[in-house]
Amino acid sequence: MNQIIGTSVSRKDGRAKVTGTATYGAEHQLPDLVHGYLITAKIANGRILNIDTQAIERSPGVMAVFTHENMPRVFTPTNDWANSQIYETRLPLADDRVHYGGQIIGLVVADTLERARDAAHSAAIEYQEEPVLVTAENATYEDSPPWFGEDFQFQEGTFETGDFAVAAADAPTTLEATYNTETELNSPMEPHALVAHWQGNDSVTVYEPTQWVRVSQGTYAELFGLPTERVRVVSPYVGGAFGAKAFPWPHGILCVAAARELQRPLKVVVSRRQMTANTGHRSQTEQTVRLAANTDGQLIALEHTARTCTSPVEVFSEPCTAVTPVMYATPNLRLGQELAVLNVGTPTFMRAPGEAPGMFALESAMDELAWELGLDPVELRLRNETQEHQRRGGVFSTKNFAACLSTGAEQFGWSQRQMQPRSQQQGDRLVGWGMAAATFPGYRGAAMAKVRLLPDETAHVLTSANDMGTGAYTMVAMTAAENLGLPVEQVRVEIGDSIMPDGGLAGGSQMTATLAPAVMNACQAVLETANAENAQQAFASLQESGRAAYEATGSAAPGEEGTEFTFQSWGAHFCEVTVDEDIARLQITRWVSVMDIGRVLNAKTAASQIRGGVIMGIGSALMEECHFDPASGHPVVYDLATYHVPAHADIPRIEVTFVGEPDLNFNPMGVRGAGEIGIMGVAPAVANAVYHATGKRIRSLPIIPDKII
Ligand code: MOS
Repeated sequence: MNQIIGTSVSRKDGRAKVTGTATYGAEHQLPDLVHGYLITAKIANGRILNIDTQAIERSPGVMAVFTHENMPRVFTPTNDWANSQIYETRLPLADDRVHYGGQIIGLVVADTLERARDAAHSAAIEYQEEPVLVTAENATYEDSPPWFGEDFQFQEGTFETGDFAVAAADAPTTLEATYNTETELNSPMEPHALVAHWQGNDSVTVYEPTQWVRVSQGTYAELFGLPTERVRVVSPYVGGAFGAKAFPWPHGILCVAAARELQRPLKVVVSRRQMTANTGHRSQTEQTVRLAANTDGQLIALEHTARTCTSPVEVFSEPCTAVTPVMYATPNLRLGQELAVLNVGTPTFMRAPGEAPGMFALESAMDELAWELGLDPVELRLRNETQEHQRRGGVFSTKNFAACLSTGAEQFGWSQRQMQPRSQQQGDRLVGWGMAAATFPGYRGAAMAKVRLLPDETAHVLTSANDMGTGAYTMVAMTAAENLGLPVEQVRVEIGDSIMPDGGLAGGSQMTATLAPAVMNACQAVLETANAENAQQAFASLQESGRAAYEATGSAAPGEEGTEFTFQSWGAHFCEVTVDEDIARLQITRWVSVMDIGRVLNAKTAASQIRGGVIMGIGSALMEECHFDPASGHPVVYDLATYHVPAHADIPRIEVTFVGEPDLNFNPMGVRGAGEIGIMGVAPAVANAVYHATGKRIRSLPIIPDKII
C-alpha cells in the first residue's frame, strides 16, 4: 500500500487553469455560434407596457429578440431537489411583471456580442411602475417555511425545548443583543455563462458550469420535454460558485430555449451588473440572541431568532439558526425564523448559507457573555459543550471541538491575552485578539464512478462530479491511486460531463464524502474484474491477455452509517487585529484556524479550502455589502470595483491545522467536508478582536471604517 491519502498533492488541474487551457462553459468554441445579451428591467416593481421589438430587430446584426410576448414554450419542472430543480420557480419571461430591479425581461440574439449588447441597451421600453420595497425594516415578516424537509437534515422555523422565558427570568446573568448582516454576493471569478447547442429539436448539449451535473441535466430535460439522455451537460471546470451554480437560472433556461428556436449554437454571458440581480445572493439578516447563564458560565437558556428576506418569486430563507442546537448545551432552547418579501432578486445558497451569518450572531453573543462574566471565551465554550444535536437528536459521531480550541489557543499564544479591552498596543495602534468557534454538518449523497485500467499502465476515473475550485480532481486521483496501488501521476481523472456516471452534488460540503467512497468501491471492483491485488498485476494480465482494458463501476450511498449518530465538523479561529483609530484603519495581522473535519484526504488542498473560507469570511466581516437604492430598487453595487472582496493585502498568513480522527461511522473513507466550515465563525472572531482592541462592540457587518471611528 502506498500511502497517498493524507499527504499534500498539488492540484491535477492546476497547470491547465494557470496556463489557460482549462475550458470553461462559455469558452467552448462552436461553428456558427451566435451571441445573446439579456435585456434587464430598469424598474424594480410593476409591468412592462411595451418593448419596441421592431426597433431592436432593425439593429445591425440582430437575428432575434425574445420577450414575454414570444417566449418559447418550456415546461414547469418537478422541482423535487433530487431530479430537477430551478433556482427561481417563475420561468423566464413568464409574463409582463417586473418583480425586482434588473430582472431579465428579454434576450437579444445577434451575430456578435457587441451588436447584441448594443441592441439590448438601446431597447425602448415603457413601464408602469409600482411602489418598491427594498428596505428590510419596512417589510412584513412571517414565519419561515422549512427548508427542503428532512432529507437534507436542515431544519429551521420555530423550535422550543424547556421554557426559555421562565428559565431566563431566574438566571443570575442575562444578555440580549441584536445583530445585522448585509446582503452579500457570491461573486465567483467565472461569471454565469453558457453555450447551448441543439442537434435538431430533440437533443441538446449545454456547456455550463454547474455544481450538480445530473440534476442540471434532469432539469433541462424536464424544461424542454426531452428524455434525460437527450440532454448532455458539459462542465469540466467551474470558476467558483459558492452555491450559486447548482441549478439552472432564468438566463440559462432562456438561452437553451432561444437556441432551439434559432437552431444555432447560442452563448449567453451574464454581465457582472446583471449577476447582482439574477444569479443569487446571501440575504441580509437581523438576528436577536438572548442568553441566560449561571455565575460559572453554564447556559441556562438560549434564544436565537432570525429575520431574512426573499424575492417575490421564490421562497428562500437563510437558515441562521440551523447550527445553534449543536453548539452549546442548554435545557431551555428557543429558535425562530421569519421571512419577508422584498423587490430584490432571488437569494440562494452562499457558502454556509444561513449558518455563517447565524454564527456571527451566536459567537458574538457568546463573546459578550464571556466579558460579562469575566471568563475566558475559550473556557466559556468548553463549559457549554454539547455531545448531541439538541434538535435532531443523535450523539456526534466524532467531536474534537475541545482539541480545536486548545490547539488553536496554544498556537496563537492565547494565554498571553490581557483580559481587558484597549490594553494591548503596538506603536500607536491598538491590538485586539479574538476567537470564535466553527462547525458545519457532515452531509453525504449518492455517487458513482467508473475506473478503467489501460495497457499504457494508467488508470482513468470517470464521473460526472465537478471541481469548482475545491480540489475534486486531485481528491479523486488520490483516492484511486491509494486503492489501486499506483502513483498519483498514473491516474487520469475526467469529470463534469453527464455522459459519465453520476458523481453527485458539490454542495453542502459533501462532494468528497459522497464521491471518495464510490471511487474506492470502483477501484476494488476493477481489481476484482482483473483478478488482481493491485494495478500492476492488472496491467501485467492486460499485457498477457491482449485485452484492451479492465473496467468497472462502483457506487456509494448514505444509509450504512447508522441513525444513532449526528455528523458534524468542528473548528476554532483565533485572530489578531490592529486598529489605527486616527484613520479608522483596521488590519488583520494574524490568523490561526484549527479544524476537525474527519480524515483529511489531501493536506494541501484541504488547508487551501479552509483558507478560502477564512478569506471569504474576512470579506463578510470587513467589506462585502450590497445595498439597494430605496428609490429605484436597484443594487448600488454592480461590479468587483463597487462590491469589495478581499485582496492579498487584506489577508495575513493563515495558519491551518487539522486535529481529530477519521469519521468511520460516516463513510468508509472517514472523510467529512472542508468547503464551508472555513467561513464559519470568521466574522465573529474579527468582531470579537475589534472589541478587545477598541472596546467597541460592533453588532453589524461589515465592520467598515465608519463603524470603528
Ligand atoms: Mo454550497 S453554499 O452548498 O455550494
